[in-house]
Amino acid sequence: MSMAGSSRPALSPALVEANERQRAAADPAASVWVAASAGSGKTKVLTDRLLNLLLDGAAPERLLCLTYTKAAAAEMSTRLQSRLAAWTVVAEPTLLEDLAALSGTVPPQARLAKARRLFAEVLDAPGGLKIQTIHAFAQSLLGRFPLEAGVPPGFRLADDRASAVLLAEAEAAVLARARAAADGTGHGGWRRRWRWSPRRPGRSSSASSCGPPSVPARA
Ligand SMILES: Nc1ncnc2c1ncn2[C@@H]1O[C@H](COP(=O)(O)OP(=O)(O)OP(=O)(O)O)[C@@H](O)[C@H]1O
Ligand SMILES: [Mg+2]
Repeated sequence: MSMAGSSRPALSPALVEANERQRAAADPAASVWVAASAGSGKTKVLTDRLLNLLLDGAAPERLLCLTYTKAAAAEMSTRLQSRLAAWTVVAEPTLLEDLAALSGTVPPQARLAKARRLFAEVLDAPGGLKIQTIHAFAQSLLGRFPLEAGVPPGFRLADDRASAVLLAEAEAAVLARARAAADGTGHGGWRRRWRWSPRRPGRSSSASSCGPPSVPARA
């Protein structure tokens, strides 16, 4: 689509086709699966789709965008915010051109006014517009319905460092229990009777360098 009075240079046929395909994929009325190579505009399509939804009047707090990585969520959020921020101040011909590129039609005046307001509307949305990783979303679901999910209410997610500490504590507890149990059944007695000492050169194997006689050797 070309805008009357646009000062932009003509696009190559390949770019025109790419734009058309991206626009079709960014139409919220269509259910779309996009598979495209790196750097070809997947995040752009997702952001455009979100912008179209907001321009069509969707309440920001009712939208949920899920990504796999935190970086992708941050990228989408940043692009959306900067686009909406720009729309509040750009000159009208630029806004008109941007909105026309999104929808493929010349936007009515009401859509321009809506675009100007969107930045504030998203900021004011109760709970905000949710762009998050699928992990964060799953965690928030578990937090809201802990009993149904069978997790302790108020549970916290362990990061790598906390996991390592918890694992070390669990190992120590298991070993302590095993030692206590062995002492209780008399297996610990061997430690009192036979002190373990490293084998000395020239000495043959003896009871003093072995474990308890009742523990069978592993094959
Ligand atoms: N139709 C287009 N016209 C102009 N620029 C575009 C177009 N599509 C994408 N771009 C630009 O190309 C760059 C890469 O786009 P984008 O980040 O959306 O790609 P991606 O497929 O998500 O990349 P990645 O695979 O790295 O996630 C961005 O700067 C984007 O603005
Ligand atoms: Mg991307």
